[in-house]
Amino acid sequence: MKIFKSAEEFKNYTKNLGKSIGFVPTMGALHEGHMSLIKRAKEENDFCIVSIFVNPTQFLPGEDLSKYPRRLEADSKLCELAGVDALFLPTPEEMYEEDEPSIKAPNRAGYFLEGFVRPGHFDGVLTVVMKLLNISGASKAYFGQKDAQQLLLIKQMTKRYFMDVEIVECQIVREKEGLAMSSRNVYLDNEQKKASLSISKSLFAAGATIGAGELDCKKIEGKMREELKELDVEYIAFCNRQFKEIEKIELKNSIILVAARLGATRLIDNI
Ligand code: PAF
Repeated sequence: MKIFKSAEEFKNYTKNLGKSIGFVPTMGALHEGHMSLIKRAKEENDFCIVSIFVNPTQFLPGEDLSKYPRRLEADSKLCELAGVDALFLPTPEEMYEEDEPSIKAPNRAGYFLEGFVRPGHFDGVLTVVMKLLNISGASKAYFGQKDAQQLLLIKQMTKRYFMDVEIVECQIVREKEGLAMSSRNVYLDNEQKKASLSISKSLFAAGATIGAGELDCKKIEGKMREELKELDVEYIAFCNRQFKEIEKIELKNSIILVAARLGATRLIDNI
């Protein structure tokens, strides 16, 4: 597995490969969710590349940038074992200079739900993803559905900026008890981990309620709140795939999202 730290060198390398490239951008602290993206990228392309970069511009002041889990050595080993062909490990200085152009997330879809609680977060995500995709030369890039709003905005950006890359949506990977895999799960102590299960339970309860024929979002939310009563819930939202809020479930075109706080840790999940 080749390792690159210089964007210029990595870009020249990928440009001259003459192979189809599948790309998995990450912030590291790799877990089974990431590994499922890597597996799929390997299956669908000649060459698989991964980036690990804790992107400072997507963290708001006071968020967990400095304590975000960093495990470069273990992550590199995991990538090597998974058969990743090349790893890109840039520094913030390599990726950014002072006072440079950046991407602005759309006013509505980029500034509600996650974007409302974390204003400017998606500007940072879109800017770094634009940079990483340009450096990678990938024909396909793989993102998890757990960060559903991020995924939608990245898809919209690549479409509206006429970028030559396909964004591949990959299913959420869950722990046995239901908790969606996330690098931030390491912040949870045993008690919080137990409590966090009510997030996925509430989403499964919503699925079951819809399965039983209930399409009214307020009523479904009521069922979810029963599961979530012990948690500090930030939002429960019902949206269609364009991320417009809905009052009635549109079958095969709806997403239900939850964000909740457990102590200092924020968790998000959706179905
Ligand atoms: O989902 C993530 O891990 C990050 O937001 C991403 C897409 C790698 C950009 O930093």
